[in-house]
Amino acid sequence: MDTIKYTLSENQIPQSWYNIQADLPTPMAPVLHPGTYQPITAKDLEPLFPAALISQEVTTERWIEIPEEVQSIYRQWRPTPLYRARRLEEALDTPAKIYYKYEGVSPAGSHKPNTAIPQAYYNKQAGVKRLITETGAGQWGSSLAVAGAFFGLEVVVYMVKVSYRQKPYRRAFMESFGARVIASPSDETQAGRKILQENPDSTGSLGIAISEAVEVAVQDEQTKYSLGSVLNHVLHHQTVIGQEALTQLEQAGDYPDIIVGCTGGGSNFAGIAFPFMGAKLRGEQSDIKFVAVEPAACPTLTKGKYTYDFGDTAHLTPLVKMYTLGSTFVPQGIHAGGLRYHGMAPLLSHVVDLGLIETRAFTQLDCFASGLTFARSEGILPAPEANHAVKGAIDEALRCKEEGVSKTILFNLCGHGHFDMQAYMDYQAGLLRDTEYSAEEIAMALSGLPVIR
Ligand SMILES: Cc1ncc(COP(=O)(O)O)c(C=O)c1O
Repeated sequence: MDTIKYTLSENQIPQSWYNIQADLPTPMAPVLHPGTYQPITAKDLEPLFPAALISQEVTTERWIEIPEEVQSIYRQWRPTPLYRARRLEEALDTPAKIYYKYEGVSPAGSHKPNTAIPQAYYNKQAGVKRLITETGAGQWGSSLAVAGAFFGLEVVVYMVKVSYRQKPYRRAFMESFGARVIASPSDETQAGRKILQENPDSTGSLGIAISEAVEVAVQDEQTKYSLGSVLNHVLHHQTVIGQEALTQLEQAGDYPDIIVGCTGGGSNFAGIAFPFMGAKLRGEQSDIKFVAVEPAACPTLTKGKYTYDFGDTAHLTPLVKMYTLGSTFVPQGIHAGGLRYHGMAPLLSHVVDLGLIETRAFTQLDCFASGLTFARSEGILPAPEANHAVKGAIDEALRCKEEGVSKTILFNLCGHGHFDMQAYMDYQAGLLRDTEYSAEEIAMALSGLPVIR
């Protein structure tokens, strides 16, 4: 019998999160204070995060133990299945073997609860009452709303206005779990009011929504800020994906030649890739080609600059060294809302700078076409973000066909698209356009980069 799904039992959930810094040849650049441009201290981060998460943010230890209470909630949906995409392989008529890890089985429909649950847990332990955050696609806000309900924390979400309008059911989902959702830019914060004054029709961006959330969080001791990607601790939390995939591929008697993931802030890609990359860096496993895929409308890794920049538009966050399009860059309103971020995780940026990853940018029409090819073979409709990984994997499989070689491809199907039906309706009706990035806009946003001496 040809196995389709490789599943693990609940006691095979990883016991620790993996931190790739322990295996990298050079350390990351320091994080700088937004006022002084000097390296920040743990104390500087205290208004935003609880001590446990700050220590995970700065540690270079290889393993971070997952608390039992977090593991027990992970068991609601983890381990997630690893699929062998036999029907897709057949449809593509490729000699390649394609596997995908499916994170859409989580309560919110994506990988985001992998970090929402521990973030809520550590905040609850620290006596925090309210969590405040931003969301692009709504996947992250939904995840934190669920986590808040589990731990009895209030949750407030600034949702990028274009997504707020495109996805009313994501908002309803968050509200069902008790969260308050505000369209960003809003008139509830200084940062939001300033943007609205300059551009009353602003459709928002993750950079703006982060500014609003951070501004509110620092003003109230009972409130902390929570981020769904980009930060080191978020990337560590996501490594449960790759660790499980390693065990599942062992079950399948296989090992990947190529790993593909989409990148918005970098967390799902790091989650699937870093455990494999660590094995390669430690010399325990053979070489793998890692492919990070982003939208052509927000080409952070392929067209951005590797330099210090702010994580948000109002410049309230620390400065990090990362690939960036400039903190004032507002990407076009493409449907992959979760990939519309001007920056990239500093840890992933560092790894890209070390030459360990290949990067690609695809337009949204090509990604939706690949998403439908995948859906019609495998029966799962991917999130528009995940379609970027699907296209990356299909391209690799077709290259194998052209070259007549059988490679093993693993990709992360990081979420389902059940809340993205408007996007699919628009695509099928021929209403979506490919919006290339604007070189002028990027040049303008990059000209405002901070000067670090
Ligand atoms: C389904 C999905 N995939 C990917 C992303 C991008 O985030 P990251 O690159 O951190 O995984 C998002 C972000 O909202 C998302 O919702």
